[in-house]
Amino acid sequence: MNPAPNLVLIGPMGSGKTSIGKRLAERFGLRFVDVDQAIVDRVGASIPAIFEHVGEAGFRERERAVLDQLLDGQDQLVSTGGGAVLDAHNRSRMRDRSYVIYLRTRVETQLKRLKHDRHRPLLQREDREQALHAMAELRNPLYEEVADLVHDTDGLNPGQAVGSLVERIARLWQNNGSLA
Ligand code: S3P
Repeated sequence: MNPAPNLVLIGPMGSGKTSIGKRLAERFGLRFVDVDQAIVDRVGASIPAIFEHVGEAGFRERERAVLDQLLDGQDQLVSTGGGAVLDAHNRSRMRDRSYVIYLRTRVETQLKRLKHDRHRPLLQREDREQALHAMAELRNPLYEEVADLVHDTDGLNPGQAVGSLVERIARLWQNNGSLA
C-alpha cells in the first residue's frame, strides 16, 4: 500500500513525468493530476502566455498555490513541473503529503526527447544544452533531497520505465505498510 496520501513525480523537463504518470496512475488506481495543466485551467492561459505576462516569478507563485491546494487532497498521482522543487515550501509539502518519485534523467536524454519542443518557455533559446546543464546543477540536489525513490529513465521508453517502476514500488510498499 502507498505509505502516503498521494504519489508525486518530480524530475526535469523531458523525464517523462506526464507519460509515465498517466500509466502509473492507472496501474495504482489513482487520479492523475498534472500541475501545469491545473495552473492553465485555473489561470485560463497557456504556460507560455503566463510566462510572457507575469514572468517566471509570477508563474512560480501560481505553481506554488496550485500545488499547495492539490496536496490537501489524496489518492492522486501528481505530476509536477521540473522547477517545482525550487521552492522550499513545495518541497516540504511534497514530503509531508506524498510518496515522491524522482525520474532521474541525463541532459543528453532530455535534449533528444525535447528536440521538437516549442512550448516550454525556458527552452526557447539557442543555448538549450547549456541551459539544461545549469538547471540540472541547481535542481538535481533538490530532487535528490525530496525523493523517497529515485528511478533512472535514460534509455527507457515510458512503458519500460513504468514496468520497472511498478515492480520496485510494489516491493517497497509491501514492506512499508500504509500510513494513509
Ligand atoms: C518548467 C517545467 C515545465 C513547466 C514550466 C517550467 C521548469 O514542466 O512547469 O515550463 O522550470 O523546469 P515540465 O517539467 O512538465 O516540462
